[in-house]
Formats: sequence, C-alpha cells, structure tokens
Amino acid sequence: MKILITGHCGFVGKHLMRYLADTGSHLFYGIDLQECRREINIEGLELIEKKADLSDKKAVDSIMNDFKPEQVYHLAARSSVSGSWKDPAGTFNSNVYGGINLLESIKQTLPGSSVLSVCTAEEYGTSGDGRPLREDDRIFPGNPYAVSKSALDFLSAIYNRAYGLNIMVARSFNHIGPGQRPGFVCSDFARQISLIEAGMQKPAILVGNLEASRDFLDVRDVVKAYWRIMNMGRPGEAYNVCSGKPVKISRILDILISLSSMDDIRIEVDRNSFRPVDIKTLFGDNSKLVSETGWKPEYEIEKTLEDTLAWWRKNINT
Ligand code: GDD
Repeated sequence: MKILITGHCGFVGKHLMRYLADTGSHLFYGIDLQECRREINIEGLELIEKKADLSDKKAVDSIMNDFKPEQVYHLAARSSVSGSWKDPAGTFNSNVYGGINLLESIKQTLPGSSVLSVCTAEEYGTSGDGRPLREDDRIFPGNPYAVSKSALDFLSAIYNRAYGLNIMVARSFNHIGPGQRPGFVCSDFARQISLIEAGMQKPAILVGNLEASRDFLDVRDVVKAYWRIMNMGRPGEAYNVCSGKPVKISRILDILISLSSMDDIRIEVDRNSFRPVDIKTLFGDNSKLVSETGWKPEYEIEKTLEDTLAWWRKNINT
C-alpha cells in the first residue's frame, strides 16, 4: 500500500510508521519540515521523504501527483496549546491553511484515497460536567490551537459531504510516551527528573497547574487507533481517541517522582506558566471507536510513564 504521512518526523509520525511497517509491506511517503530517515530505526523501511511546508500549495500538489497515495495520515500540525497563545497566526498557517491545501490537493488529484485528519479533544473546550465528552458534544474551542483544529475538523466533514472524499477525523486526547518533545506535561516532568538524576539540574521540579485532569493515552495505543479508524471508520465521522479516564496532573507528577532514583526532589509551582484558559477536567468517551473498530488500549499509565522516563534518561544529553 502507498501511504503518505504528513509530519512523519514528529512524535506520533515516527510511532505510526513503526506500527504500520508491522502491519504489512508499505511504501511510505513523508512530508515534513525536516528529514528523519536515519532516526527511524526500522529495517527495510521504504520511505521517500520530502521537505515541504503544507502551506506551499504547489509543493503539496506536486507530491500528490508524483506519489498518488492510497491513504493519507494528516498529522502535521502545531500541536502546543501554550505555543498557540504565543503565535496564533503561525498556528493557523500550519493547521488551517496547511490542512486546506492538503484537502484541496486530494480533491483535485486523488479523490478516491482515504484520509485521516488528526484533530483534538481541545475542540470541545469545556469539561463535560463530570461526564466523558462524546463526539456529538458541542465544539466550543477555548484557545487558538483548538480553534485551528476545529476548523480542520469542520473542513474535513464539509469535504466529505460536498465532494464525497473518504475523510475520517480523530479527536485525540492527550497522548504521551517515549520520544515526546518538551512542552507537554509528562515529557516536561520526566525530562526534569532525568536532568536532576544526571546532576544537571538542582533537585527541584518546576511545574505548572497541577489541579487540571487530562485523559492520557500511550502513543503506541494512539497509532493503533489511527490505523483502525483509517481502515474501519466511516467517512465523514469523527472518533474520540482516548482512554475514558481522567488523571490529575499531580498524580502524573507523583508517579514520575516515585519512579525516580532520587528521594529529595522538591516541587516548585511556577504561576507564570499557567495558561489564560486551562480546562479543568478533560476526558472522553471512547465507545464509538471501540464499538466500530474493535480498538482497545493496552498500556497502563504507570508503564507509559516508566518508558517515557527511561527514554529521557537515555536521551538527556542529546
Ligand atoms: N506542558 C506542561 N508543562 N503542562 C503542564 C505543566 C508543565 O510543566 N504543569 C502542569 N501542566 C498542565 C497544563 O496546564 C494542562 O492543564 C495539562 O498539564 C496538560 O498540558 P499539556 O501536556 O501541555 O497538554 P494539553 O492538554 O495542553 O494539550 C495536549 O493534549 C491535546 C488533546 O487533549 C496536546 O498534546 C495537544 O496537542 C492535544 O491536542
């Protein structure tokens, strides 16, 4: 199968390629702002990389024409909520205009291919008053990143209705695991613990809002969900990709500290890192994904955090 992954060099992209390579023999085409073939340790991987910005429509068209993928996993995006407050225009340029260019190009050159648009739980914008959020809950984004992904979500549905494209949407909740860059809570905490253990940071972890709760999934479970939605999902539909269980950020910190070899780590709350708007509790209902595709998560949060910390210990100097 010919598979195109936008953002193949990102955290999820690399895990997705590893998983897809196990499901059969594929020819991959990756579009990213960088190349990463050498970092992806997969024997015999057939990958053609193109450095391109999705906001460059001509580049996107030429890649589509050359490669003619049967499936497109659209992961490329600015994915940081806090980053989007600092650069809303840049976030829109990547997530909205890049997405439109991709959808337009698919419409013009490959209307028969299947597409997975990766969107976010942040689109719901509120906690569900103590119940898990469902796909038919209101979209009510509360930050620039969430608005940009809501636009992609709506556009994907519109391109399905108007042009009959086979587009599915994943509304992904927080995904974590080995290889995630700093800027996301588990990675930020695990990195600091590794720095402290290596004697490169004083024994104090700087943290933000510990009172929020999020629905965390291991990235290795997330990519399996993406494959299932791509191959078993219904075009025009959105699927929550989540565990169904909220976990408080303070609990993440406790687990990571308990996994550390140090016993004197202090916690310092940095109020400057609090966001203008931060949803208190965000967790989802995954029953649509489970019942329609048979997906089920395999990783417990403790194991994911253990693997994340192990990854940081190994990579702390790079
Ligand atoms: N990043 C970060 N770093 N967040 C912290 C920290 C810290 O040191 N301390 C506390 N937090 C809190 C944040 O305020 C937020 O309430 C929560 O931890 C999770 O923050 P992030 O890990 O940055 O993720 P996010 O929830 O903003 O967004 C993630 O999940 C979305 C889906 O729900 C990202 O992966 C998005 O791309 C994704 O769409």
